[in-house]
Order: sequence, then structure tokens, then C-alpha cells
Amino acid sequence: MPEYANARVLIYDNRQEMIDAFCRHLVELGQDAIRRHGRFALALTGGRTPGPFYERLAEKPYRDQLEWSNVRIFFGDERCVPPDDDASNYKLARERLLSRVPLSEKSIFRMPADDPDHARAARAYEAALERELNLNTLGIPAFDLVLLGVGEDGHIASIFPGTEATRARDRHVMFNHVEKLGAWRMTLTYPVLNAARHVWILATDAGKREIAARALGHLPGGNVLPIWHVRPADGRLVWWLSSEAAALIPPEEQDRPEGEDEV
Ligand code: 6PG
Repeated sequence: MPEYANARVLIYDNRQEMIDAFCRHLVELGQDAIRRHGRFALALTGGRTPGPFYERLAEKPYRDQLEWSNVRIFFGDERCVPPDDDASNYKLARERLLSRVPLSEKSIFRMPADDPDHARAARAYEAALERELNLNTLGIPAFDLVLLGVGEDGHIASIFPGTEATRARDRHVMFNHVEKLGAWRMTLTYPVLNAARHVWILATDAGKREIAARALGHLPGGNVLPIWHVRPADGRLVWWLSSEAAALIPPEEQDRPEGEDEV
């Protein structure tokens, strides 16, 4: 196995099976967290990929299997737009999931990325993380599960190649200027991502096949990608890949989960 071997890679030929397995395991993980420490702290990803996964999670049987009153929803990153803007990750999550499950507003922590006072907004979100999440032994807020998509340039959340966020280890939330987008983004930083008990990376488009193979060490150049540094210290990293996104992973390295496979 390549250097990045601590990741569990789940590859699915059938999209619906992938989505249902994702929901089944997310519910199991959430209920286990609630049993262990009374709540399930979940950070949602933005982008196009998670939509079908969120919609299915909001349907029977999964919506009835999670104690939503003990779930706390945060975001991995957000665009600097109002919450009703079509580019907002919060809007996407609200439409596809949050408005369809019995969650109180107090349990949803939108990233205030539209606040022009970036320092105030980042401090406020850090305070919410510290208030709502358990802290790990380093005093870093620890999610039970962080969901991430991955960009074709290897970015995760809004930690883009060459940006300040790739170097930030002294903060938990920050505003990051992304020159290639000509835009600011608000994002969790590596210390928080890597303090999580579980980090799941979702990639379903064929366009992600090269970045997935590089990030998993099957093609060269993975170690310069932002995603390379997502290594939960005490947690488990799982890649959820469609067969299209896994197309450049050598067949002998591809294992397909059987039945109720553990993640
Ligand atoms: C965002 C996301 C970002 C996303 C990747 C993949 O705000 O856009 O948080 O990190 O996960 O860009 O996006 P797609 O799922 O649309 O390919």
C-alpha cells in the first residue's frame, strides 16, 4: 500500500448503494457518538457532490434513526455570500437536508462568512466550536465527523493550494483569500480537521480520478496537495469513491466493501 495507507478507501460501482451505505454508516457513527458523549458534532461540506447524500439522509429510514435533537451541525467552509445566495454552502445544506429533518435552529451553526468583519466572524465561530464540541488533549475542538469534498486541485474545505490556510496551524477558523477565485472564503483549518474522530472524503465525479489517485499515493505529486495533510491524528480517514472517481487506482488496490463493512 502507498505511503498514505492509513486511509480506508470504499469504492462503489453503484451510486445508490454508495449513498445508502454512507447514510447507514453516518447514522451508526452518529448514534455511537450520542451514546458516548451525548451529542453528534458533524461538519458538513459544500460543493455539488454531497447533495444526493444529504437528500437521502433526510429520507426514511435514516431520518428516523438519528436523534436529531442531539446533533450539532457545523460547516467546513463557506463562501462570503449571504445565507440565501445560491453559492452558499449553508443554503445547499438547508435545502437538501436541514429543512427536512427535526433539527432546531439552535443546533445549526452557520458560518458567518458574509460578516465584513472577518476577525470578529472567525472568533465567533471558534467560540461556538469550543462551546459545543469536546476538546481533544491539545485543547482543539474535536468533531465526531467531518465531511469533505475534494477539488480537482486537491483543495479541501477552502484550503486551496498556495494559500495562507495551508500554513495556518495556530487558528481553528480563518478567512482565506483564494487568488484563483478572486474571492475570500471562511474555512476550518487543519488543526480542527485533524482533531476529528472521523473524516470522510467524498468524490463521485470522473473528474476527481486523478486527484484521488495522487492523494492516495497511486500517482506522483500527492504530497504537495492540501488534501495530503488531512490526517486525523487519533481518528479514522475514509474515502468514499464512485468507481468513476477511483478509475486511476490500480485494480489490485481497490477493495469493494462487502455488506455491513466497518468504516
Ligand atoms: C466548497 C467546498 C469545497 C468542495 C470542493 C469539491 O465550498 O466548494 O467546501 O471544498 O468540497 O470544491 O466540490 P464539488 O463537490 O462541487 O466537486
